[in-house]
Amino acid sequence: MIYDTESLQSITNHIRHRRSIKPMDMDATRLVEPALLEILFENANHAPTHGLTEPWRFHVFQGEARRDLSNTMQRIYRETTPANEFREDKMRKMSENPLLAAVVIAIGMERRGGAKIPEMEEIEAVACAVQNMHLTASAVGLAAYWSTPPLLATGEFISWLGMREGDRCLGLFYMGWPKENFVWPKAHRTPVGEKITWHEENKS
Ligand SMILES: Cc1cc2nc3c(=O)[nH]c(=O)nc-3n(C[C@H](O)[C@H](O)[C@H](O)COP(=O)(O)O)c2cc1C
Repeated sequence: MIYDTESLQSITNHIRHRRSIKPMDMDATRLVEPALLEILFENANHAPTHGLTEPWRFHVFQGEARRDLSNTMQRIYRETTPANEFREDKMRKMSENPLLAAVVIAIGMERRGGAKIPEMEEIEAVACAVQNMHLTASAVGLAAYWSTPPLLATGEFISWLGMREGDRCLGLFYMGWPKENFVWPKAHRTPVGEKITWHEENKS
């Protein structure tokens, strides 16, 4: 064997163990240790980035700051949702979430590369950073969930975060220790073979 099978097994286990676990299954009263948060962010910071623009920005809400976030989400949802789409139950559920997780991170994408790096690539880099964080969280048994309510894309929300025009908020990342007796879910995926096209060599 020319590759390290233990490393392969280890990373495979971590990748397949990662799951989205919603705030309702988190214990909001249990602290996520600052030292662990630091490692989560440091691992996020090691994501690949075209042109080394490192476009990921993390706006962290804990304790009472989560209430500000929740109130702001309600306000912006009210202000920006067309009357025929407005749903009181949806707004209530969405604004409850920040209070159910110990840590909520608004995922920012800051445009730094100008026109040189396409925006799509900056978004992709941020997604890689979030995945690093999610894998790290799952590896230690920390529940995490990426949520993307449309109001995060509004100018109101971006400026409330203190970000600039052209920047984006790509979602909220909720984290917390699972509630007692929580059963870690299993993955459901269709076969990867259906998503691969093998282009044979020397076909032409
Ligand atoms: C960019 C992105 C946005 C997502 N937004 C939402 C969302 O708004 N609501 C939701 O229920 N799940 C959201 N998810 C989580 C998916 O529902 C979840 O990844 C999927 O169900 C597969 O489950 P798993 O992550 O446990 O493998 C999002 C995932 C990604 C990558």
